[in-house]
Amino acid sequence: MITMSAPDVSADDMALVEQVLRSSSLSGGPMVQAFEREWCANLGGAHAVAVSSGTAGLHLALIAAGVHTGDVVVTTPFSFVASANAALYQHAVPVFVDIDPVTMNIDPAAVDEAVRAIARGGVEARRWLPRTTPPDFVRAGSPGHVRAIVPVHVFGQPAAMRPLLETAREHDVAVIEDACEAIGSTHEGVRTGTFGHAAVFGFYPNKQMTTGEGGLVVTRDAGWARLLRSLRNQGRDDDATWLRHVRLGYNYRLDEMSAALGLGQLRRIDDLLAARARVARSYLDRLTGVEGLTLPCIVPATTQMSWFVFVIRLAPDIDRDAVMATLHAAGIPSRPYFSPIHLQPFYREAFGYTEGDFPHTEAAGRSALALPFHPRLTDDDLDVVTRHLTVAIASCRRPRGAAAAR
Ligand SMILES: Cc1ncc(COP(=O)(O)O)c(C=O)c1O
Repeated sequence: MITMSAPDVSADDMALVEQVLRSSSLSGGPMVQAFEREWCANLGGAHAVAVSSGTAGLHLALIAAGVHTGDVVVTTPFSFVASANAALYQHAVPVFVDIDPVTMNIDPAAVDEAVRAIARGGVEARRWLPRTTPPDFVRAGSPGHVRAIVPVHVFGQPAAMRPLLETAREHDVAVIEDACEAIGSTHEGVRTGTFGHAAVFGFYPNKQMTTGEGGLVVTRDAGWARLLRSLRNQGRDDDATWLRHVRLGYNYRLDEMSAALGLGQLRRIDDLLAARARVARSYLDRLTGVEGLTLPCIVPATTQMSWFVFVIRLAPDIDRDAVMATLHAAGIPSRPYFSPIHLQPFYREAFGYTEGDFPHTEAAGRSALALPFHPRLTDDDLDVVTRHLTVAIASCRRPRGAAAAR
């Protein structure tokens, strides 16, 4: 059976998890510490703080950045909903900025424009702010300050970090990298996750490596790391005295079984990434020249790609839903990925976003199609997907003049 994704769990990974299960320490033990230590050694970052999910990591990183009610967090609408939801947990206003249509990552020139305009306030700021803001997202007597920029390394390709960091420096704004999809990629030779004030990785089972549910925040700032450790652990202080809470905290801890699985996966991360790259290359070889689709574009600044998903874009005259239905009938799953955040019902209702607000994001949202992608796909599987996809594309062209469904 061809599946969209599949974790690669080895016998060694299972042995590490079993080791935990045979111990007396299922939470707050040595595996989390080892996972954090080896993460810093392998992937960079002075401090690593393991948490219960990528979403939890984003929430805590925004708290560390000082994001509060009424602040503005600038981010991309072309992402998984969690990267914007993290701002909402703090009652901050997500201000979306459209993407570069080639990389599908946030457009740094537009970010610069947005941050400048919001700093100036007035009519210029209104162009960027949402049409409506619920009352509990407004701080009385205080205009919204941009407190953080959250670039997302979409599908594993790093965002253009240098101009974003310049904008952030100029305006004294924190940069929190959403690196949930980009474990191990490099931008201009530098590891993603080491650019911002903090970066967040995610280990959901469809990711390049998994802990089941889980995530991790990296930062160079020792003060942030201390705060993050307290926040994930119910606001306990450094000494972790069990019933002493010095701030509002959360239970965002990663358990020992998950950390053990993560440790096993991390020790094989180069192999896991190489296996995905092999599958991506095989797709590229097979699909190059197929009419009606655009293949992923890896830009020169991406000195090392980390393949999270394999997403093609269909030409506007091809009916994506019909292509998906044809693939489904042949037993091949596929997903429209991403569905823009600003058009999610909740965002439309709360902030007044509507179609036409972010044209590049919406075009990507209409045309993007994720194909089955994981290291266990065989050449035969890829042949089957390619054959059915090619036929589906050829047979699902809309009649001339028919508009793409919105
Ligand atoms: C870009 C992005 N941000 C955030 C998340 C949230 O991570 P999690 O599912 O671990 O909460 C994900 C993944 O699912 C993601 O792809």
